[in-house]
Amino acid sequence: MRKILVLIFLAVGFLRASAQDVSLNKGWKLAVGDSAQWASPTFNDQHWASVNVSQSWEQEGHPGYDGFGWYRIHVVIPSSLKEKAYVKDSLRINLGTVDDNDEVYLNGKLIGRFGGKTGDIKTGSFYGPRTYTIAANNPAILWDKENILAVRIFDTGGDGGIYGSNFNIAMADVMDHVSINTEADFDYGDRNSLNKSIKLLTTSQYSYQGKLAFKVTDPETNAVLYEKTNDAAFTSGKPFTYTFEIARLEKKSYTITYTFTDQKSGKELVRTETTPYILTPYPSAKPKINGADVFGARAGNPFLYLIPATGKKPLVYKAAGLPDGLKLDAATGIITGAVAQKGSYSVTLTVSNRLGVKTKNFTIVIGDNIGLTPALGWNSWNAWGLSVDDKKVRISAKAMADRLSAHGWAYVNIDDGWEAEQRQADGKITANSKFPDMKELTDYVHGLGLRMGIYSSPGPRTCGGFLGSWQHEEQDAQTYGDWGIDYLKYDWCSYSEVTPANPDLPALKKPYQVMRGALDKINRDIMFSLCQYGWGDVWQWGAEVGGNSWRTTGDIQDTWRSLSSIGFNQDKASPFAQPGHFNDPDMLVVGKVGWGPSLHNTRLTFDEQYTHISLWSLLSSPLLIGCDMGHLDKFTLNLLTNDEVLAIDQDALGKGAARYIKNDRYQIWVKELKDGSKAIGIFNLSDKYQTISLDKNDPALKGFTKFRDVWQQKFIVATGKAFSTKVAPHGVTLIRVEK
Ligand code: GLA
Repeated sequence: MRKILVLIFLAVGFLRASAQDVSLNKGWKLAVGDSAQWASPTFNDQHWASVNVSQSWEQEGHPGYDGFGWYRIHVVIPSSLKEKAYVKDSLRINLGTVDDNDEVYLNGKLIGRFGGKTGDIKTGSFYGPRTYTIAANNPAILWDKENILAVRIFDTGGDGGIYGSNFNIAMADVMDHVSINTEADFDYGDRNSLNKSIKLLTTSQYSYQGKLAFKVTDPETNAVLYEKTNDAAFTSGKPFTYTFEIARLEKKSYTITYTFTDQKSGKELVRTETTPYILTPYPSAKPKINGADVFGARAGNPFLYLIPATGKKPLVYKAAGLPDGLKLDAATGIITGAVAQKGSYSVTLTVSNRLGVKTKNFTIVIGDNIGLTPALGWNSWNAWGLSVDDKKVRISAKAMADRLSAHGWAYVNIDDGWEAEQRQADGKITANSKFPDMKELTDYVHGLGLRMGIYSSPGPRTCGGFLGSWQHEEQDAQTYGDWGIDYLKYDWCSYSEVTPANPDLPALKKPYQVMRGALDKINRDIMFSLCQYGWGDVWQWGAEVGGNSWRTTGDIQDTWRSLSSIGFNQDKASPFAQPGHFNDPDMLVVGKVGWGPSLHNTRLTFDEQYTHISLWSLLSSPLLIGCDMGHLDKFTLNLLTNDEVLAIDQDALGKGAARYIKNDRYQIWVKELKDGSKAIGIFNLSDKYQTISLDKNDPALKGFTKFRDVWQQKFIVATGKAFSTKVAPHGVTLIRVEK
């Protein structure tokens, strides 16, 4: 019988190099500042501070530092590296993550640089893994002697420096020119199977010939479920494609390992990924109203709200009790107008189709506070970085309208990269050529019932090197108002240049107070999102300066290391979440991300992605999707459209979860909800399956008798004295306990 394995999978790729290397994980020294002499091999760095490159320079004694810094290391490069390599012509230097830009000197000679949009390392913003390859006969390399590697960094905004876990020097060997490309989506076959094609690719003229071993294992038992080896041959321009079908056995991830072994060199390349699994039930054809129970707006300002509802189309919408000044379009569900009178208005929403009718109580609060529940939307940065343009925004808006807005998703936010190089003669800001008509774009987004966001920085320049709002705050707020903007993300970048070094609390608050004042003069409800990476414990004063949200951390990346170190360290900030004012542990890294024109599948496993959405929802964080919306695969769409999970994020009480239990292996976070129930996230932080139990008499559970599995939207039969749950590595069980 042909065995069909089912895999639900998300790519977490690990490449294991079999070549020998020289580790550069330890032995670095750091100095902040800038001097050309620091590249020199004769410079004496004896008095420089040792630095641990597993973390950023902020965490290594330079909190909030922006600007230049240099890292130096002394290292012997043994010629035995060459002897052990099959191909001996070049050397690779792997520098972990570089944040933002760098120049690399080997014994005083520049051997590589990575800059921003102009190639000048002072501008632009992009962090990421950096590898430089140089010819093995480059005279800069001193074989078998001490070499001085010096890395000059320029960073603005958030974390800076070089950091990570994979710093080394190795020969670029035969497998360094090969990639096992697992980027294609899994296809969910109708026979309860998963199908996928992967490719073996190379840019080298070398003709690869060997075997591709394909193996599927169950991470819970380590049992091998399926194994097959095929011949594989490929060369530049002629990839090898391998297509497989596996059965979907259980609702969990399996691990796939691909191993290519090249016959001639004997070298191998290994890549693993996990398989996706869907938890969110398939949406019913009957009408259902989703989204928050409450929406806030200011008196007299333009009002826009799309009633989020699922069910077979066409749907017909009704709203009883709308305050004077608002009207509903019965065919689209879009409520528009303006309300003159402050007050709390109880509205009954009704949605019907041929299969039924559904009503929901909804409160419209006209007052001073907006953003009563965290923003649900998309932001261009984690997908497109500075390459965002009008077309990408329209595609995102359309995808949100078609596929996500029925679940409450509403904001379409353009991050950095929209601004012109120069202001107009009258000082007015304009968009660059990638955005031909901002007003028209905003009208398009509003026409879909969605809201539009934009980005700026209080300094002269943004983090991406574009125009910031410095000394033009009122003018910019006015322009945003004229365009119809509904959300402003306001960074810190380059403001350090115009404020004294080591800003105290009043100085940290100032740029946000200035922009708040400017926004208050505009006749629009513009959500104000602070982005200064958590400095000065912003959660303690973000609400006071009028922020609807504030970033609590540096920039997130699509790795477990980044996700877990951000998400599981929100305990200090969490108590400060309240309606209208939320902590922002940064945007989502699910789906296809890239921070630039080329995208890749998030490097998070599928279980890590369930953790991401569960934890961010427990924390009452804004959920800003950071992926290519034109390409929402089935898993990602499922992850983002679970109404019971989103309801935890959107709960009107607006509390952040508290960390209840923390140990080496797991954490439990508990969030109080408006109806008296609680949402509880049980997170496995280890890399092995675990059964985690909580006594039913524990204060977190006492008095609650019903346990609902939120992702699967079904009650759990929990017999015995304890509530026990089996949790996948880096995964979660998210429950809602009710009386
Ligand atoms: C900073 C922010 C990011 C993004 C970039 C844009 O790094 O933290 O979220 O907005 O700037 O340049």
